[in-house]
Amino acid sequence: MSGPGNNLMGLDVGTSRLVVARQNGDGFEFESQLNAFVSVPYSKMTENALRREAVSFHTMNGEIVVHGNEAPRFADLLNTETRRPMTVGVLNPSEKEGLAVIRRLIENMTAKGPGRPKICFSVPSAPLNGEEGLTYHEATLRQMFQELEYDVRTINEGLAVVYSELEDTNYTGIGVSFGGGLCNVCLAYLSMPALSFSIAKAGDFIDSSTAQVTGDLANRVRITKEEGFYFNGHFVDKLQQVLTVYYDDMIYSLINAMKEAFSNTRRMPKLTKPVPIVLSGGTASPKGFRDRFEKTLRQTDFPIQISEIRVARDPHTATARGALVAAMTEM
Ligand SMILES: Nc1ncnc2c1ncn2[C@@H]1O[C@H](COP(=O)(O)OP(=O)(O)OP(=O)(O)O)[C@@H](O)[C@H]1O
Ligand SMILES: [Mg+2]
Repeated sequence: MSGPGNNLMGLDVGTSRLVVARQNGDGFEFESQLNAFVSVPYSKMTENALRREAVSFHTMNGEIVVHGNEAPRFADLLNTETRRPMTVGVLNPSEKEGLAVIRRLIENMTAKGPGRPKICFSVPSAPLNGEEGLTYHEATLRQMFQELEYDVRTINEGLAVVYSELEDTNYTGIGVSFGGGLCNVCLAYLSMPALSFSIAKAGDFIDSSTAQVTGDLANRVRITKEEGFYFNGHFVDKLQQVLTVYYDDMIYSLINAMKEAFSNTRRMPKLTKPVPIVLSGGTASPKGFRDRFEKTLRQTDFPIQISEIRVARDPHTATARGALVAAMTEM
């Protein structure tokens, strides 16, 4: 059932995008907003000008705030960077306005029906060999949902990819989400998370590293990348070439991290059959990504047998979809 009565949702709380999944008949429907904003000091003139441009905005603490999908266009008009409520997978503690912006975006996307929303939202894994820095993020979001009077539970992001895509192997295999702030990996065995971790190299790393080389703003690099980047052997264009360099760096780093994590046999389940890898997330969406990933994996002495490497049916919505599958099963 779709529409206002449908209060069961999966929510991907991503560094780059917030995605809500709902049931719609036998299928699923999705809605997404960029997790970004731009603010300018309030003036009546600016307010009128934005109305004429049909930019949607709200006012907050004496500022005009443009958030969500409208933010990049507005940032580009002002030749500035967008501000981001989250960084490397978690709430950005140095962005004061961030939580209020996320709250408003999430409320707009979820508070549509009369009943109390029931939401399963995604949380990232701790970095491989890194500090567990997730407590503040998860606790703050839980508190926000408590204030909104929603019922919530959480799901690990990599596991959500497995729930979304690996029904055919009885939820056994490796889910990877190549996002904005992080790449999240989860090896699941019969739907149970056996091992999960993240690395802090993903789309934002590719954008900011490329911007440093080419001298552009990262926001501009991102827009160009999303419009037209793909993998090919020869480059007419400097930007494409630099993007490929950092894409390769990320793929290489991730495969090495997987190799290291899966070599630690104490933590590994006893796999009796080769397992699939599913690639998802916005950063996995360019044409040629799967082949590039597979080529690098084949050149690596990988500790477990892989049956196939596939891209999620929709890389942009797999996490939200898996979170909804969890909500439907558990809530
Ligand atoms: N068509 C595209 N080509 C290349 N990159 C893309 C494309 N569309 C989106 N991206 C990139 O994907 C990234 C966002 O992916 P996604 O929405 O999966 O991340 P997220 O879930 O918000 O972040 P995270 O999981 O790291 O918290 C951004 O870096 C964005 O620039
Ligand atoms: Mg994500």
